[in-house]
Amino acid sequence: MKLSDEEKRELEEIYQAFLHDEKILRMKEISMHRGSNCYIHSFKVAKTALKRALRHNKGDLKTILLGAILHDYYLYDWRNDRSKMEHHLSAHPYIAAENAARDFFIHEPIKRVIESHMWPVNFSEFPKSKEARIISLADKHIYIKEICCSKAYKAKREKKYLRQIEKLFDK
Ligand SMILES: [Fe+2]
Ligand SMILES: [Fe+2]
Repeated sequence: MKLSDEEKRELEEIYQAFLHDEKILRMKEISMHRGSNCYIHSFKVAKTALKRALRHNKGDLKTILLGAILHDYYLYDWRNDRSKMEHHLSAHPYIAAENAARDFFIHEPIKRVIESHMWPVNFSEFPKSKEARIISLADKHIYIKEICCSKAYKAKREKKYLRQIEKLFDK
């Protein structure tokens, strides 16, 4: 799928608005795998998911962009909160969807995309839409890349990741 300059600009504006949104910036406090955090992870998933949608000519791009940015908007650090630790894997998609609906008034298809991103952990939540499948796969792809990094150079890696997510379209 080839986008016009106008379409690219519109998606980039949405991406930038979320990238600098105060509510979204809270995700930086939630540590994730090896030098990543929830904020970096979510924007990396968004960029990957959008690239794949464009390459394969699939899905509604705004739904993919918003669904990916918000897919882990659960806003707690399960590593520091024992009560959340046990059910985090299966519960966080629902918490993220509720938080996203509360803070950003997202519509139903985006909520469903968020709720189903952890399939097959939540086996009954098969990602039914193209958008949901693209995000669920992009999430797993980024997760695997993150956990395959060494534990060394975490701070350096974080800076590199932040540079990588500065823009939706790299050039
Ligand atoms: Fe997740
Ligand atoms: Fe994720």
